[in-house]
Amino acid sequence: MKIACTGRSRALGARIAEHLGAGLVETRTSRFPDGEIYLQTGPLDETTIVVGSLLSSDSLVELLLLIDACHRSEVRLVIPYLGYARQDREFKPGEPVSARAMARALSRGVSRVLTVNVHKESVLSHFSVPAAQVNLAPEVGEYIGTLGLSDPLILAPDEGAVPFATAVASRGGWEWDHLEKTRISGDEVRIEPRKAGPWTGEAVLVDDIISTGGTLAAAARMLLAQGAKGVHAVCVHGLFAGKALSLLRSAGIREIAASDTIEGSESRYSAAGPIAKALFP
Ligand code: R5P
Repeated sequence: MKIACTGRSRALGARIAEHLGAGLVETRTSRFPDGEIYLQTGPLDETTIVVGSLLSSDSLVELLLLIDACHRSEVRLVIPYLGYARQDREFKPGEPVSARAMARALSRGVSRVLTVNVHKESVLSHFSVPAAQVNLAPEVGEYIGTLGLSDPLILAPDEGAVPFATAVASRGGWEWDHLEKTRISGDEVRIEPRKAGPWTGEAVLVDDIISTGGTLAAAARMLLAQGAKGVHAVCVHGLFAGKALSLLRSAGIREIAASDTIEGSESRYSAAGPIAKALFP
């Protein structure tokens, strides 16, 4: 068995390989003169674990090419970050169910799929091969434990993130709560003050994704205005689109952390162990 990774999932792929004691498939990519991606892999084993996050159109194409290049082995696909999963239904007539489109395209040529904290579990049913996810809530809890905060409140920014926040909180026996969010536009949200009243201790906002940072910045501003001692933010998938990081910092968030499903400067904990365990329980 070997691990083959797309360019932007190399660090996580190497960590998964280390956990499994498996080798890495050498892969090189370049561009044709018209911009199309060229890819070539080195020798494969009978089974290949292909690892690639969906971060852009190019990363989708690279992943499709890598799966195809591995067609002589059994391919198990790991998609650490399943992009397009938030468009999980037709919100307005004429829209695609983007999550379904991705799942259908990525079911071909693979025997099973594993992803991490998919935005909604129902998305997994769009794959035509067995698909599962791992939940990094325990790892988020472990990470928060290393921050040395005294009795932090674990806060979900909206009701949808409650199962995640409760699982994180149970790791440290911390209190948890959720806020109410109204999305105004793609990068603007309104967060209502906490129903239970102001929180004057440390608060840790937890969410599956940070994209523009608008959600957690608005939540942090509200909490700090109400007297919170400090606000921290931990997510699974740190997209940090555009000026998200400076927005979060200027909102007063002290610690910003994400996993390595999207490799970046804020990757503070790894999904490799849980992925390796889920691949070979
Ligand atoms: C939405 O339901 C997700 O769980 C996140 O809260 C959302 O994707 C965060 O987006 P942003 O950082 O752009 O506010």
